Amino acid sequence: MIDRNPNPGDAGALSRRGVLQLAGGAASFAAIPGAAAQGAAPSAQEAAMASRVRLTVNGQVHELDVDPRQSLLDVLRERLDLTGTKKGCNQGACGACTILVDGRRIVSCLTLAAMHDGARIETIEGLANGGELHPLQAAFIEHEGLQCGFCTPGQIMSGIGCIAEGHAGSPEEVQFWMSGNICRCGAYPGIVAAVADAAGRT
Ligand code: FES
Ligand code: FES
Repeated sequence: MIDRNPNPGDAGALSRRGVLQLAGGAASFAAIPGAAAQGAAPSAQEAAMASRVRLTVNGQVHELDVDPRQSLLDVLRERLDLTGTKKGCNQGACGACTILVDGRRIVSCLTLAAMHDGARIETIEGLANGGELHPLQAAFIEHEGLQCGFCTPGQIMSGIGCIAEGHAGSPEEVQFWMSGNICRCGAYPGIVAAVADAAGRT
C-alpha cells in the first residue's frame, strides 16, 4: 500500500492508511455487543407495551396486563383458564367463541382484550347457579341440542343474547338470528327448539 501523505511528519494530517485504520477500528467497536446495544432502538418486543385492563368476568374482577395484540378470546382461555369459550376458526366465521360483553353477544376472537377495559363479561362457565343449570342449558339437554359439544358454549351464549334481544319469537326467527353459530354435527333442530322453548319460559 502506498502512503500518499505529502507531509509524513505532520501528526495532524491523516494518511490513507490512517483513515483505513480508523475505519477498521470503528467497525470493530461497533461489533462489540455492549457498545452496539448502547443507544440502539428498542426491540419490537420491548415496543409492544402491555395494556392494563380490568375485566369483570362472571362477576369476578380481574386486573390484567395484556399484550395489546391479544384477542379477548385468548385472554379468557390462556390467562383466565376459562376454556369453555371455544376457538373454531379465529376469524369470526363460526360463532364458537360467542360471549356476552356488557349484555351484548359478540365473537370474542375478533376483538382485542385491551379494548374492553371496565367491561362486564359473561361466559358459559358463569351460567349455572351452583349445581343448577341455567334454563337454556337445561333446554339444550332436554331437546338434544348438541352432539360433540364444541359449538355448544357459543350456541348457548348466543341463544341467551338472542332471547334478550327479543329475536326468539318463533323457530324461524331463532334460525335467522342464530345463523352466525355453526354446528358441524347438525344439531340445529334441537338448538332451535331449545332456544325457542327457553324463550317461551322466560
Ligand atoms: S372462533 Fe370466533 S367466530 Fe370462530
Ligand atoms: S354439537 Fe358438534 S359442532 Fe355442534
